[in-house]
This record gives sequence, C-alpha cells and structure tokens, in this order.
Amino acid sequence: MYKKLLTTIIMLMALIVPATMVFGGERVADPAAGWDKHYHFFGVVGFLIFVIVFVPLLYFVFKYRRTSENHTGAYIEGNTGLEIMWTAIPVVIIVLLGVQTWALFNEYRSVPANAHEVKVEAYQYGFKMVSPEGIETDGEFTVPAGPVKLNMTSRDVIHDFAVPAFRVREDTVPGRWTYMWFNASKEGTYQVYCAELCGPGHSLMLAKLNVVSKAQYAKWVEENKMKAQTMTPVERGEKLAKQCIGCHSLDGSPAAGPTLKGLFNSDTKLADGSVVKTDVAFLKKKIKAPKNNLVDGYPPMMPPYSFTDDELNAVVEYIKSLK
Ligand code: CUA
Repeated sequence: MYKKLLTTIIMLMALIVPATMVFGGERVADPAAGWDKHYHFFGVVGFLIFVIVFVPLLYFVFKYRRTSENHTGAYIEGNTGLEIMWTAIPVVIIVLLGVQTWALFNEYRSVPANAHEVKVEAYQYGFKMVSPEGIETDGEFTVPAGPVKLNMTSRDVIHDFAVPAFRVREDTVPGRWTYMWFNASKEGTYQVYCAELCGPGHSLMLAKLNVVSKAQYAKWVEENKMKAQTMTPVERGEKLAKQCIGCHSLDGSPAAGPTLKGLFNSDTKLADGSVVKTDVAFLKKKIKAPKNNLVDGYPPMMPPYSFTDDELNAVVEYIKSLK
C-alpha cells in the first residue's frame, strides 16, 4: 500500500518540479507579465498540492473508517522513507518558488535605462506629479508609452501608489524617496489608487494615468508649457486647489472640511464660539496655519501648506470665484 502511494506521489511531484525549473530559467522583461505568470504558477502548484493531499485523505477516511463496535485501528510506529520524502519534496518546491520570486523581484527593482522618470508627491488625499520637463499635474498624469519610473515621496503620512493594470504598487513614505517602474506598454487611460489606508479620505485618493504615443506626448508637453504662461490667477488657483478637494467639496456639501463653495466673505463660526468673516486675510492665515482658528464642527486635521505668496494669492482668487 505504502509503495503504491509513494509511487503516485513521486509521479505527481515529477510533474511539478520540471514546470518550476522551466519558469525559473526565464528572465522577464515586463514586470506585469512576470507577476501574472508567477501568480498563476503559485496557483497551479497550490492546487496540485491540494489534490495530492485531499484525494488520498478522503479515500483513507472512507477506507479505514470504523466498521464495527470493536474495530480498533492499526498501530503504526513510523516510516523513515516516507518522512524523508515528505520533508525533502516540500523543501525543494519552496526553494524553487523562493528562487523564482527573488529573480522576479530583482527584475522589478532594476529599472531600464531609457525609462521616463516622473516625480510623485502623495498627500492626503491625492497625487501630485512632475514630468521630466517640469510640468506639474495633479490627479492626472501623462506619460509616453514605454518603461516609466516613478520617484515617490509623501507630504504627510504613508500612502501607496498602485496601478493594478500594470501590476505594480509601492509605498510613498514621508521623508524618504521610494521608486518603482512599470512598462506602460499599451496606450490608454488607467486608474491609479492609493492602496494604503491613510485617513478618512483614503477611498477618494485616486488618479488617472494616460499612456500616449511619443508624438502625442510631445504635443502634451508643448500645450502645457503654453498654458502655464497664459493662465489667469483663478485657473492657476484651480490647479493648485486640486489637492484641497479631497476634503473640501465644490458643490456646497460638507466633507472632512467645509465646502469651498460660497466660502469667501461668509460668516464662519469658530470652535471658540466667535464668528469671523472669511476674507482674503483670514483665508491666507488659515491655509498657512490651519491648526489656529479652528472652524466649529470640524476636526483639526488639515495639514499646513507652504505655498509661495503668488500661489497663495492664486488659490484665494480661485476660492473667491466659487460663488
Ligand atoms: Cu493615501 Cu490611502
């Protein structure tokens, strides 16, 4: 009986091990394809092990069940051969899976020399990106098709930049630069998520990634350079204020913070009971030092923003325009 079982198990193992070696020998140029293969391979190995364990288990449960009142089970001392086998085979499988994981991880950490480098700053609740040409965008960014490297940091807490379509994610950590790369192999628009619980606005922390052709990218760069020169203060403020709308709505509904709609020159009740006019001076003071003059009914969770005077004026002009 043991011999038969042993032969069956060895035959099944003989199917798994060569498959592992074939995969382990391959160098993957595209992390996404590599992760997919890796994931499916783990699935197949796991399923085969499940079958090898559970089919005999169910069979033995049936075969050696108690058949009468005074039926006693056989007394089995142990089996050296079997014990060596069920230690050695899993060790071999785990080492092979480990080597493959390591090879793929290495691939994922070594960035191709021609990668398009984008700077990412995550904040509660959004992503700011700076292209190699110095174009700043918020909540949406554009890259040419091909390998893309992201150099990332965070302004406040730990976030995680995740693009499921390219099978990548990496934490963004305040005070530290992290990086990741992916092959943006197909043109299109892809969803970016924050994949680290980072506060009440976490689920709204989204961005769009546009992958375009080289020619379209050059056009995008030109257009944005032109736009930056001809923007009005309100337009500049709107762009800067993209980082505010995770917490401040534009339609009058309250969110983590008060809405920006109709905020300018309104009477606002503060936590200490006093009422202030939200004029230009107050708004500027509040954006620079949000922990002072807390507004009644809202928690003190807004981080301070270090805008230049010019930027601060633009943001206030924008808030003024939201009637
Ligand atoms: Cu940022 Cu979740």
